Amino acid sequence: ALSRVTRAPADKILGLTEKFNVDRHPNKINLTVGIYKDNRGRVTTFPSVASAQSLLETSLDLNNDLSYLPITGSQDYQNNVLNFLYRESSDGSELLENNRITFVQTLSGTGALAVASKLLATFVSKTVWIPNPSWANHSNVFQWNGFNQIKYYTYYEDGKLSIDKWLKELKESCSSRDPDWPPSIVLHACCHNPTGVDPTLEQWQQILPVIHDLGITPIIDMAYQGMESGNLIQDAYLLRMCLEYEWPNGLFVCQSFAKNMGLYGERVGSLSVVVPPNPLDLKSTIDSQLKKIVRGIYSSPPGYGSRVANLVLSNPKLKQQWFVDVKNMSDRLWNVRIQMHERLNWPNLVDFKTQHGMFYYTGLNPYQVQILQERYGIYLTEDGRMSLSGVNDGNIDYLCDSLRQVVQ
Ligand code: LMR
Repeated sequence: ALSRVTRAPADKILGLTEKFNVDRHPNKINLTVGIYKDNRGRVTTFPSVASAQSLLETSLDLNNDLSYLPITGSQDYQNNVLNFLYRESSDGSELLENNRITFVQTLSGTGALAVASKLLATFVSKTVWIPNPSWANHSNVFQWNGFNQIKYYTYYEDGKLSIDKWLKELKESCSSRDPDWPPSIVLHACCHNPTGVDPTLEQWQQILPVIHDLGITPIIDMAYQGMESGNLIQDAYLLRMCLEYEWPNGLFVCQSFAKNMGLYGERVGSLSVVVPPNPLDLKSTIDSQLKKIVRGIYSSPPGYGSRVANLVLSNPKLKQQWFVDVKNMSDRLWNVRIQMHERLNWPNLVDFKTQHGMFYYTGLNPYQVQILQERYGIYLTEDGRMSLSGVNDGNIDYLCDSLRQVVQ
């Protein structure tokens, strides 16, 4: 029986860092995973987060004990995150007042997606639509957490968004769907991973009614809030737009503070589900199932990171500093993008400036990516995605020279 276990391929993103770590190339550069690094190549702690950490260390009344958090996380965290998402980032106050948003503190965005899929795949939906291309782990998460069918909608083709094709595919496929198990769809809230290209507000205005009319349940993946425009609030536009609709099977919002607070390893995020107003006990029923799911997998979330996030979200001075921290991060990423654009001057490859956020989707093919890795020690993900945060003054010349050689 144990011999039936087959070998799984290495993870398309994190597996590359394992390989990078043992590479002996003297000029090697890791441009794979989306972790923000400063211009000296260091993963630094945001000033807002560092202040929150020292407050936690010195204050006796900040509930620092190491006991278990409740299954769905701490109440303070829940209040602060709901307030941030639904009062500051969007106009969901009425939903909060009417007790229509269920909440789980999750192990970052991946944990939120996993818990959401368990609930959806058990009770609501057997099919999930994912953009093509998408974050390499999406299909893995949805498959392991119960979806029978993963479908891909054409999101980006030949260097640009392909909304007409995307909507046509949804319409064609959904006309023959099983009404008892309506499909779900993953929408990247901003900074689409890996392409860095998002629909404009006008395009979303065209997309959302189609999704709504087809009875598809949206799962918003919001991992990069603040990194598109540099402004946390502005970047919640998709959440705001989705809240203009009633979603009969709920609106699922999977959110993470990994990137925009730099809390990667602390696993701090949330799943919130906006539930329909009726029946009145629907929210508490869903709460009960979400609790059961969490308890069955990891029991309860870790505490420390959420205490840090709590302070950043609730202390006005730290909050203000956080907005500055996010803006600084986004400015540096934009600066790197422009510098590379100027150095490379690549007319045939994807235009740098239509993209934003952490990644540059180069348009390099898997063979070119492999040459970059083997010959130059430069690691991109196989789909040609480059994490701009790994680029700095010390390696940009080497990187651009190598890229030029590879595309010649
Ligand atoms: C990425 O896409 O690099 C990040 O979301 C990190 C991860 O977990 O893959």
